[in-house]
Amino acid sequence: MLTKTSSSAEAVGISPEQRERLIRVWGSCCEALQKVVTDLRITQDELKFAGLYFNRLGQSGMFPSLLAVGLAMTSMRVTEGNGGTPGNLEGPYYIANAPVRPDGVLLEKEPGPDTRFLELSGVVRDAKTGKPVDNVELDFWNADENGIYDHVGHHLRGRVFTKADGQYHVRDIVPKDYSEHDTDPIGELFQAMGRHNRRAAHIHLKVRKPGYQSLTTQLYMPDGDYLDDDYVEGAVVPELVVKFEDNAANQREISAKFDISIVAEPA
Ligand code: DHB
Ligand code: FE
Repeated sequence: MLTKTSSSAEAVGISPEQRERLIRVWGSCCEALQKVVTDLRITQDELKFAGLYFNRLGQSGMFPSLLAVGLAMTSMRVTEGNGGTPGNLEGPYYIANAPVRPDGVLLEKEPGPDTRFLELSGVVRDAKTGKPVDNVELDFWNADENGIYDHVGHHLRGRVFTKADGQYHVRDIVPKDYSEHDTDPIGELFQAMGRHNRRAAHIHLKVRKPGYQSLTTQLYMPDGDYLDDDYVEGAVVPELVVKFEDNAANQREISAKFDISIVAEPA
């Protein structure tokens, strides 16, 4: 006979395995946080303050973002890492099904006068054999010259595919350090701690090819102001910093190369 709890779990469409995992996750979270409450002698007033903060964070839509800021790098370390190009956090602003860009141009409008254009190209290779891989889907998205993402249309978003020789090419802009949290609860938390809420300038990328593990990563701009001080600790790693061609600092047209290696699924 079904117990009350099991029937309510079925009502929300949870499998026995998922329920088992949920119970362990919830239990472990409580245990870890009970230790924090004990160690720091957290009062009920402070708990209530935190609860109200999380209500506001949820209403702003930024709860996933704060979880990622604190925990995504750790999650990646224990669930990914396989010899290919290192993964990096997805961030909050991915939009699926961005337009395919046969010419590689991600711009849908004229950027501001000081914007630097970025011609980004490279080769996608099999991590084990080193052979170029064709028809790999590269799904790019990034902030604009003011550090703002297009949340409505697809400016600076788009998909390209590698050619027979594994080459890809996009025409993008050099994004500015990301700075959308100044007026939301994440900014409030970091301001209260006396810390900034900037991300080092970056371009997001998802890489997909049947038969290969898909990759979510970020490419960091080499001359951003927050390269050494991203508010997501540990996000910037040397392998993911793009190299601009020589003397790029004062140029409006910048070329950069970024090669990618992907890992075949076990046969
Ligand atoms: C956040 C923003 C990003 O653009 C990103 O890539 C990762 C995290 C953030 O909102 O914290
Ligand atoms: Fe981002």
